[in-house]
Amino acid sequence: MAFNMNDIIFKKREGGRLSREEIHYWITGYVAGDIPDYQVSALLMAIFFRGLDREETFNLTTAMRYSGDTIDLSPINGIKVDKHSTGGVGDKTTLIVAPLASACGVPIAKMSGRGLGFTGGTVDKMESIPGFRTAMEPEEFLSQVNKIGMAVIGQTAHITPADKKLYALRDVTATVDNFGLIASSIMSKKLAAGSDAIVLDVKCGDGAFMENLEDAVTLANLMVDIGTDAGRKTVAAITDMSQPLGKAVGNSLEVIEAIETLKGKGPADITELAEKLSGIMIYLGGKASDPDEGYAMAGKALADGSGLAQLGRFIEAQGGNPAVIDDYSLFPQASVMDELKAEKDGYVEEIAARTIGLASQHTGAGRATKESSIDLSAGVYLHKKVGDKVTAGDTLAVFYGNDRAKVDAAVAEAKKAFKITDKTCERPVLIKEIIGLEE
Ligand code: URA
Repeated sequence: MAFNMNDIIFKKREGGRLSREEIHYWITGYVAGDIPDYQVSALLMAIFFRGLDREETFNLTTAMRYSGDTIDLSPINGIKVDKHSTGGVGDKTTLIVAPLASACGVPIAKMSGRGLGFTGGTVDKMESIPGFRTAMEPEEFLSQVNKIGMAVIGQTAHITPADKKLYALRDVTATVDNFGLIASSIMSKKLAAGSDAIVLDVKCGDGAFMENLEDAVTLANLMVDIGTDAGRKTVAAITDMSQPLGKAVGNSLEVIEAIETLKGKGPADITELAEKLSGIMIYLGGKASDPDEGYAMAGKALADGSGLAQLGRFIEAQGGNPAVIDDYSLFPQASVMDELKAEKDGYVEEIAARTIGLASQHTGAGRATKESSIDLSAGVYLHKKVGDKVTAGDTLAVFYGNDRAKVDAAVAEAKKAFKITDKTCERPVLIKEIIGLEE
C-alpha cells in the first residue's frame, strides 16, 4: 500500500492510531532523506499532543532499532546485561556497576554516550583517563568481552540513525519531553546494542527529564513493556536526581569518585545505588538465584576488591593507564580553584541538581552544543549533601577548571542551588521504586 506523509500527519493530528506499516514508512523515508524535516516536525508535534499507545510506541522503537546496524553479541558467551541511565548530574554509576557485575561473571558489552547540556556522559568521563580509547572495531570489542569480561565504548555512528536524526529535530521543535518519543528513543538504542537483559535507571527529580515520581513511573513502565515485548528481560529502578548523585560532578572528578567507591570509600548514595543496580544485573545475568543474592554478591565484589581489580583490567585493555587507580595526579589537573562557603548555620535542605549541573558546565566540564570541546579536569565537588548540618563558613562546594572567569561563573550559578534551613532535613529516598523485578 502506498502511503502519504500528509495523510499520516492528519491521522495523528485527529487522534488516530498509526499502523506498523505507516510508522515503518515514515521512519525509513526520513532516514533515506525522502521525507523532509518540516513534515516530520509536524508529525512529532501531533504525536506530542495526541501521544502514542503501547503498540505504536513498540512499532516506533522497532522501526528505529532496525534503521541502521544492530550489534550481534552472540559470539560472547553468557547472558549479556546492559545498563542505561536516563541521564543526570554526577551519575558515574556505569564505571562502578560494570566492573562489579563483570567481576561476578556477567559479561558487559556496553555502548555509552557523551554528555550534553547539564548532564554528563560516560564516554567523556572515560576519556579523562590518560590513553583510554572509547572507539574500537566490533571484532576487538567482542574479543575484549570474551577475554576480560567487559568493554565499554562510544555508540558507533551506524546504530539507530533514525534516532539521531529524530532527536536532533525534537531538540529544536520542543518535542523532546513526550513519553512515547523518549521511551522509543532510549529502547531502540538498547535493543540495537544487542544485550539479553537491560537494567534501566530512570532518574527522577529536578536534574532529570522526569521531574516527578508519577512521570518517572509512567516512563519506566513503558520502557519495561517495550523491552519485554522485544523478548529482553528488562527492569527499571526509579532513583533520585533531586540532588547530584555522589559528590563529584565533572569528568575526571567523577572517575576518581568511581575508583574511591570501588575502594569502599565512596559516598553513601552512589555506593547504595551501585550495589543495587549491579545486584540486579548479576541476577538478570543468571549468576544469582534471586535479587537478594545478587545484592550480596555485588557487596562482596566491592568489599573484597574484585570490582576494583576488574576496573584496572578494563582500563588497561582499552589503552588507559591503570596506574590512575592509585595515583590521581595522573588525571588532567585543574589550575584554577574556588570555594563556595555557607553564609549561615543550619541544615542543607536542597542542592538543586540541574543548577549544579549548569555550574559544572560553566566550569568547562560540560558542552553547550555537540561540537563544543570540554575541560576534562573541570567540575564541582560537593562537600555537603542534603540533610547535612552546616556552620557558617563551612565549605559547601569546591570548583575546578582552567579559566578564572568560567570558574567564577560556576560559583555564582551554584550559589542558587543551595538552600540552608534552620530545621533538620530528611535525606531524599534514593531508590524510589523497582519495576519488572520479581523479588
Ligand atoms: N535520552 C535519549 O536517548 N532519548 C530521549 O529522547 C531522551 C533521553
